[in-house]
Amino acid sequence: MTTKEQLLKLFEENRGIYLSGGEIAQDLCISRTAVWKAVKALQNDGYFIDAARNKGYCLSDQTDILSEQGIKKYLDPVLSQSDIFIYQRVSSTNTILREKANSGAPEGCMVLANEQSSGKGRMGRSFYSPVGSGIYMSLLLRPKNCSGNDAVKITTLAAVAVCEAIEAVSGEKAQIKWVNDVFVKGKKVCGILTEGSFSLENGALDYAVLGVGINLYPPAGGLPDDISNTAGSVFGNVVSDAKNRMVAAFLKSFYSYKNSEPPTGYAQKYKERSLVIGKRVTLVSANTTREALVTDIDEDCRLIVQYDDGTIGCCSSGEIRVRL
Ligand code: BTN
Repeated sequence: MTTKEQLLKLFEENRGIYLSGGEIAQDLCISRTAVWKAVKALQNDGYFIDAARNKGYCLSDQTDILSEQGIKKYLDPVLSQSDIFIYQRVSSTNTILREKANSGAPEGCMVLANEQSSGKGRMGRSFYSPVGSGIYMSLLLRPKNCSGNDAVKITTLAAVAVCEAIEAVSGEKAQIKWVNDVFVKGKKVCGILTEGSFSLENGALDYAVLGVGINLYPPAGGLPDDISNTAGSVFGNVVSDAKNRMVAAFLKSFYSYKNSEPPTGYAQKYKERSLVIGKRVTLVSANTTREALVTDIDEDCRLIVQYDDGTIGCCSSGEIRVRL
């Protein structure tokens, strides 16, 4: 770790508390001048660090910047083992993480960015990812003996974990629209895109890249016209350490379900948060469109529907899209 990274870790672990220059210098085994230089460097990165005579330096609660140190301070030692790469701007965090996965990165490796120039959404769409307003993150998973069907569960499990994280950090109720969209107060605030790489030999999942985009704050330049009516954000204004807290809360929730073997317990939570149960929907597949009433969601998070002719159907997310 560089001096700047060590200092950030110390500040993150002592948010809102003044640390004297001498104390910091002793802790990090560096000179007071080196402390001052590292403080300046962090301030240049956007950290609000107050410097007060006789008190020392203090990382202000106003700061909301993603960092490895900031996320890991909320994680237990097991979860904080994994590598977390944070970039200012990338094409797509999923793309960068796929490259790392192809070079052998282990399960749990994460890529996050403050901005994506070509954020990817489902069905070949793009995901609007302006600087500073969202959390754009990808998590590498290497599940054993996982079929294509099991892989769909990664997305549903992630949707539940995102809802729980949003609720823990903001206190707002979060709901799930089939299957990868999370809504707060009727607006989409999060999209999930899971991309898999399958073995050509046995068709098993080699790895999955779980991509999650959470709109935390309204973008400075407003939303593009095509999503201005449907998209929203979790918060209206900057909230202290919301980004690091949100990522950590997501990881804790995601792994708590995933690590129960087989992963159970989340299907009921998914159902409780569903926006589609009891609603008439349009089911859109590759070549058909059909109206139906959603009557239930089963333990594999598939939709149970009743078509207008009275027949009952069961749909999984790989096959259909749902229009409310
Ligand atoms: C959707 O709403 O259709 C899914 C959007 C998924 C967006 C996230 S942001 C992080 C990760 N990187 C991407 O390029 N896409 C996902």
